[in-house]
Amino acid sequence: MRVVKTIAEVRQIRWDDPALTWGLVPTMGALHEGHLTLVRQALMENDRVGVSIFVNPIQFNRRDDLEKYPRPIERDLDMLRTAGVHLVWTPDETEMYPASFQTYVAVENVTQVLEGASRPGHFKGVATVVSKLFNVFQPTRAYFGQKDAQQVAVIRQMVRDLAFNLEIIACPTLRESDGLAMSSRNVRLNPAERTAATVLYRALTAAKNEWEAGQREADHLRATMQQAIEAEPLAKIDYVSVADPISLQELNGPVEKALLSMAVFMGEVRLIDNVIIGVA
Ligand code: PAJ
Repeated sequence: MRVVKTIAEVRQIRWDDPALTWGLVPTMGALHEGHLTLVRQALMENDRVGVSIFVNPIQFNRRDDLEKYPRPIERDLDMLRTAGVHLVWTPDETEMYPASFQTYVAVENVTQVLEGASRPGHFKGVATVVSKLFNVFQPTRAYFGQKDAQQVAVIRQMVRDLAFNLEIIACPTLRESDGLAMSSRNVRLNPAERTAATVLYRALTAAKNEWEAGQREADHLRATMQQAIEAEPLAKIDYVSVADPISLQELNGPVEKALLSMAVFMGEVRLIDNVIIGVA
């Protein structure tokens, strides 16, 4: 496994044999099994796999969140080496954002709602860094987790709009045995919060079960999720949503397919989760 820091090194390795297909898994490190499912799928579908590890400062809108973001780089590299990854790119901040940097990618409507509404500027940071990763790496395919459903929707929109020459693959959310979606932020939960955090998936599952039993009203599904979260004293709702899976606009009346999603504070830690209904 090669571990490199510069754009020039990535390009040189990527184009050493132009006939090979490359999968790219963009990450911010602090890797867990969720990240590794993306890596494994990429390894099955491509000749070579690259992983980028970069805690992207411009997508954090809370300074404390950026500062507290875990950075266990040696552990991350061990996990990727064991998994069989070929190339890891760990750029320094000055490589990604030199002092003169002034170009950003702004995806419009689909970033205005949900995570975008709660975290102003977040998706401008994501779209900008992912564009740069794509331009440097030029992967055949790039892998993202459905856990961050809006991130997938934003990147798909950007790839369509700017004609990036690659395929976006969305991978299912990996969960702990009690249903909690794996996340680098879970380690910041204290034991009581960790136990309470299962309420997100329980709330999503309750609404999904109702939909499967024939309940179609968006308002009813939102209310089911809200009540489930409100029953947990340690949880505080940021939003609960029943939205169109592509435009992410909130739905009203009967729904045949939808993204059910939520953001919930457990103490200081903000957790997100989602499930899709009605889409095969
Ligand atoms: P990060 O939070 O490190 O996540 C990297 C990738 O792993 C994302 O595509 C995310 O959706 C996926 N992932 C995280 N938890 C997962 C889980 N439990 N199951 C499946 N996939 C999971 O997302 C980012 O980094 C950044 O925004 C990035 C795209 C790297 C741009 O900076």
